[in-house]
Order: sequence, then C-alpha cells, then structure tokens
Amino acid sequence: DASGKQPELVPPTDANIRRAADLLRAGELVAFPTETVYGLGADATDDRAVTRIFEAKGRPRFNPLIVHVADQDSAEAFVRFDARAERLSETLWPGPLTLVLPRRAEGGLSLLVSAGLDSVAIRIPAHPVARSLLKAAGRPIAAPSANRSGAVSPTTPLHVAESLGGRVGLILSAGRCPVGVESTVLDLTGETPVLLRPGGVIVEDLEALLGVSVLRPSPADAGGEPDAPKSPGQLASHYAPGVPVKLGVHGAAADEALLAFGPDTFIRGGATRLNLSPQGDLHEAAANLFAMLRALDRPEHAAIAVMPIPETGLGAAINDRLRRAAAPRMPLPFPATPRQD
Ligand code: TXA
Ligand code: MG
Repeated sequence: DASGKQPELVPPTDANIRRAADLLRAGELVAFPTETVYGLGADATDDRAVTRIFEAKGRPRFNPLIVHVADQDSAEAFVRFDARAERLSETLWPGPLTLVLPRRAEGGLSLLVSAGLDSVAIRIPAHPVARSLLKAAGRPIAAPSANRSGAVSPTTPLHVAESLGGRVGLILSAGRCPVGVESTVLDLTGETPVLLRPGGVIVEDLEALLGVSVLRPSPADAGGEPDAPKSPGQLASHYAPGVPVKLGVHGAAADEALLAFGPDTFIRGGATRLNLSPQGDLHEAAANLFAMLRALDRPEHAAIAVMPIPETGLGAAINDRLRRAAAPRMPLPFPATPRQD
C-alpha cells in the first residue's frame, strides 16, 4: 500500500470479534479466516462497503463476490433454494461449498456483489471464527479471498498482510486455514448443475447427493469466453506467482525450485525443494499448496517445477489452481475483449 500503513493483526478473542463486527457494520473492511482461505469481508448490504472490496483488491467489477451467512434461514432470505440446493446445503453446510442461486430482489443485498447477474453465490463457512464474526455482525458478509486480484490466495494472516498491506485495517488472525483451497462453486440456476470452480468439496460427493452428473467445463476452457465469463474468477491466470510454473515434471533443473508430491527420493535437481505431501495425501497437499507456491516464488528460481498430482478427489481443485498458475499471463484487470453487457 502506497500509504505505508500496516494492518493490525489481532487474535480472535470475543472482544476482537465484537470490534471486527462493529467495523463491518460501520462499512469498513475486515480480513478473517475461513476453513478454505482468508476472506476480505464487507457488509454485503452496503454498496459503499462492497465497493471498498473491489478497490482494495484491484478486482474487476464484473467479477462477483461470495456472500457468507451464519445460517440457513439467512441464506433463504437472500436467494431461492430448490430441492437440489436444500439437499446439498443440509448435508454440506457449514463447509467449503458455494451455491450460485437466484437472487431474491427483496433480500436487501447490494447489487454490486452480483456484478450485474441475477444470481448470488452464497455459503455458510465452517471456521469457528468466521461463524462467530457472522453472528456478531448480524449481517451477510461479502468476502473474496483476501489478496490483491490475480495473486495466490492467502492461507495465513501474514499472507493477507503481505498482499493487502494497509488496504485492510484489521486482520482476525487465527493461523493456517485447514482446507487450503477455496470453496467449490456450483451453479444451480439452470437445469444442469455446473461446476464453476473445483474446491474443498469434491464433485463426486455432489454427484452422489444430487443423483445426477455435474457439468464440468473442461480445463482447456479455464479462461472461458473472455467477453462473457460465466464465473469470471475463471480468468486463466487467476492464481499467478511471479516466476513461471511447469507442471507434471519428473525432475527439475539446478536453478529451478521443485514442488514435490509423494516420495521424491529419485527425483533429480531443484535448487530448493518443498513437498506438498511426502505420503501423497491430497488433503495435506491442498492445505500446503498456496503457502508453498508463495515460498518458492522467488526471483532466484528460474521456474517452479511441480510433480504430477492425481486428478481424483481434492486433486481436481489442486490441479485447477496449478493450471491457472502455469497459464499464460493475462493483463488484468481488463479482459482481452470488452464485455458486451
Ligand atoms: O473459499 C472461498 O470461496 C473464499 C472464502 C473467503 O470464502 N472466497 C473466494 O472468493 O474464493 P473469490 O471472490 O475469490 O471467488 C469467488 C468465485 C469467483 O470465481 C466468482 O467469479 C464466483 O465465485 N462467483 C461469485 N458470484 C457468482 C455468481 N453470481 N455467478 C457465478 N459465479 C460467481
Ligand atoms: Mg480469489
């Protein structure tokens, strides 16, 4: 931040949660932990507060935000649930699942959270600090990941401070996020459920509960139609570290960093090595992913070379983030083609 101000990092005591809730009600931004990543929160009913999120992140205004609520009753006040949405929310909330549902016009959410769409992305987070904050604020909280747009999402309070600096005043600081990748985003506005972003809830579990298959836009479409992104967060290089990322390697050059997965005894090279999970556990790998990408993102490394990771279960979310990190860099915040809306 140009002002040189630094955010205050405070533990999530009752007093600090009340303070954070007061700031939110006054239209200020607060960063807080969720089970997935840290969020940059604002009162989702307040246009000026929501505008501050876009400014602090440098986020394009056409990219809508996730609304976090404390309980099912609040969720039903803002969006319309059908039988599929009821089924999933009963079983998987609180948790790392975001449902895109039709907005209730009378619900009182700022239209800016939807970025011009007539839907809202909504979830009940599971992290106890997020839940206490939502209860204390008594408002829905719009919260994207608490990083500058285009950077890797924060899984520790220090990542938030490094990325946003004085653009956020207060960070509720509660250590590492246990899941480590963002929530799964599922669009239920149409007849066929569409996976807009793989994440902390695996798509196989969604399909088992829904009893139908979920449409998965192919990884090759990760950039989507630049002039009509269905989930604009799917811009190809959304999770870009500063140095190039190479995927599926079985060895690294002497000047490259190696990001390993599983036993790496027989892998060659790598000036620096980190292992997402020496045992090959995808939950552990997801929890380590963003912190390790950040740690290896240093100018002395010619590239970050990443070993193959299975596409099953949480591997889908991990590989999605890695493909974005490795994708050709797109000049943000403007899409290649002007939007026609
Ligand atoms: O785990 C998470 O979801 C974290 C924590 C803080 O909850 N939040 C997060 O927010 O990752 P964000 O803003 O970084 O990602 C939100 C994603 C974006 O890809 C956005 O385009 C999509 O959800 N989205 C939001 N509202 C939408 C809508 N109405 N229709 C389609 N996609 C939407
Ligand atoms: Mg994000």
